[in-house]
Amino acid sequence: MIDVKKIRQDFPMFYNHVQMQGKPLVWLDNASTTFKPDCVIEAVTEYYATETSNSHRGDYDLCYAMDKKIAECRERIASFIGADSKEVVFTSGTTASINLVAFGYGLKYLTADDEILLTQAEHASNVLPWFKVSEMTGCKIGYIPLDKDGRLTVENLRKVISSKTKIVAVAHVTNVLGYIADAKGLAKVAHEFGAKIVLDGAQSVPHIKTNVKDWDIDFLAFSGHKLCGPTGIGVLYGKFDLLVKTDPFMTGGGMNAKFDMCGDVGYLAPPMKFEAGTQNIAGILGLKKAIDYVDSIGMDNIEAHERELKAYAVEKLLQTGKVTVYNANSEAGIVTFNINDVFAQDAATYLNSKGIACRSGQHCAKILNDFLGTVATVRASFYFYTSKEDVDALVEAVKTGGNFLDAYFN
Ligand SMILES: Cc1ncc(COP(=O)(O)O)c(C=O)c1O
Repeated sequence: MIDVKKIRQDFPMFYNHVQMQGKPLVWLDNASTTFKPDCVIEAVTEYYATETSNSHRGDYDLCYAMDKKIAECRERIASFIGADSKEVVFTSGTTASINLVAFGYGLKYLTADDEILLTQAEHASNVLPWFKVSEMTGCKIGYIPLDKDGRLTVENLRKVISSKTKIVAVAHVTNVLGYIADAKGLAKVAHEFGAKIVLDGAQSVPHIKTNVKDWDIDFLAFSGHKLCGPTGIGVLYGKFDLLVKTDPFMTGGGMNAKFDMCGDVGYLAPPMKFEAGTQNIAGILGLKKAIDYVDSIGMDNIEAHERELKAYAVEKLLQTGKVTVYNANSEAGIVTFNINDVFAQDAATYLNSKGIACRSGQHCAKILNDFLGTVATVRASFYFYTSKEDVDALVEAVKTGGNFLDAYFN
């Protein structure tokens, strides 16, 4: 059982908001980003206040100490996802990680005869890089059909995969509907056909236990800021032999072993090969603290808490008789809905006037609209610090959601 009241004391955003705005904040946009606990903020501040130095660039104590710390962070982050530390590449986030795979691996190995499989439920960051690879190599983009509820299933992958498929790039948890895909089952089928699986873990790694080795995942991308960590830091996991075969997306200082005037260049081994330029050191330190923090709560506890909240929210919202819920059966702590006869952005503006932060629109998953049969939705997304009272506040506001014009005249 998670003691939400106690946990919230670790998050300055909650108490500062009350102090500054004079009212509590009902934060239901955790799929977009998450609040940071004190320990993460302190780790970032400590770096700038007492530990500032670059990494891998100086022969003095501060720099040695930082090199050691970064290595420890990499180790810790790797163990969190069941990887080896040499398979963890620091990036700026999920988007950068997927772009690295698309341009460093996809562009290098795919040809016009090949195919990349996506789904209609993917976030722009797991669609547009692959469109670019298709444009540049001539390879085809195909879609694994979703089932009637919007779920990606192993059976449906089996229906469309072929020997032409070289990459299966899918979200582990989709950011609008919140279904958890069977990562291990998908990887098995992809491998049967000689394809690589690229898992977008932006919405899964912060919420459910991840084990890339057990699931046999080829590449996994995730962002620190959705996991209580700082913005601007993320991870690309890749199997080491695949990272060796992948080209760097960016080149420059810190990733090369040698270069000369004739253009003869040698790169460092992964993961350094992919980390050109000064890294987001404060971000790395903060991400490690964030992982320590969520792990201390327990990934199983987090998942169970969110499932309970999800079921509670769906039940209460449907009881109002005023909403359409698009993902009542999905597992993750995401509820996507519309207040009947109210445009999603108006609904979110109205909720905002009641102190409730929800996302509205297409949530960067623009090709899902046809499937949903609506142009926009409202999304409430939870984390371990979300309470039943937050859900109650949402439900109460929804009951008067038809008064949305009030929000504009307040
Ligand atoms: C499923 C999914 N993939 C990718 C992203 C992109 O993450 P970031 O903006 O941190 O790079 C998001 C962000 O919402 C997401 O939900």
